[in-house]
Amino acid sequence: MRQEINLWEYAGQILDGVRKGALLTTKSGDEINTMTIGWGHLGVEWSRPTFIVYVRQSRHTKTLLDKNPEFTVNIPVGAVDKKILSLCGTKSGRDLDKFKELGLTAMAGQTVSVPAIAELPLTLECKVIYQQDQELSALDPACREHSYPAGTAEENNFHTVYYGEITAAYKINDENSDILSLRQLC
Ligand SMILES: Cc1cc2nc3c(=O)[nH]c(=O)nc-3n(C[C@H](O)[C@H](O)[C@H](O)COP(=O)(O)O)c2cc1C
Repeated sequence: MRQEINLWEYAGQILDGVRKGALLTTKSGDEINTMTIGWGHLGVEWSRPTFIVYVRQSRHTKTLLDKNPEFTVNIPVGAVDKKILSLCGTKSGRDLDKFKELGLTAMAGQTVSVPAIAELPLTLECKVIYQQDQELSALDPACREHSYPAGTAEENNFHTVYYGEITAAYKINDENSDILSLRQLC
């Protein structure tokens, strides 16, 4: 069962969850993938509730997001198996099916084609309404050196910013209901 939530009442919990590590899930065709994120913004623009994510050029997530501009943000409630955030933050979906490897439970999205994840029950469903490559020449030099150090592989591995209009927000309460098997989704 899913319990709809009032976004603004949950704003603190959502942002605290992202700061500690959440998942950004994408899907293109039959392929689903998820990666750990630590950067994100919740707010309002163009009179719409938005969640903004920042995705580096090298991420497989970017490839999927550019093919299907929808995503879910999956936020832990209480304790989460640290292995989930660690594996999803270090392994690429190019090399590994993270859902299978971790036994994650994909649940069909309500307003998007991308699934939610029962193990991280606080869910935002988002449709991309704006995206832009970040312009490194406009960035504060200290931030640039920190995240894109000159002379390293990260120098030009900048982030693209994706604004997702939040089309549904809920908490998954019952792991056993409403679950689609991976076979159904893939
Ligand atoms: C705590 C943590 C936070 C992260 N935050 C982000 C982020 O906000 N944006 C990003 O592009 N990568 C971030 N990463 C790195 C990706 O999760 C990682 O490179 C992942 O393996 C990419 O998977 P993919 O290739 O399947 O997309 C983070 C990693 C960790 C461990």
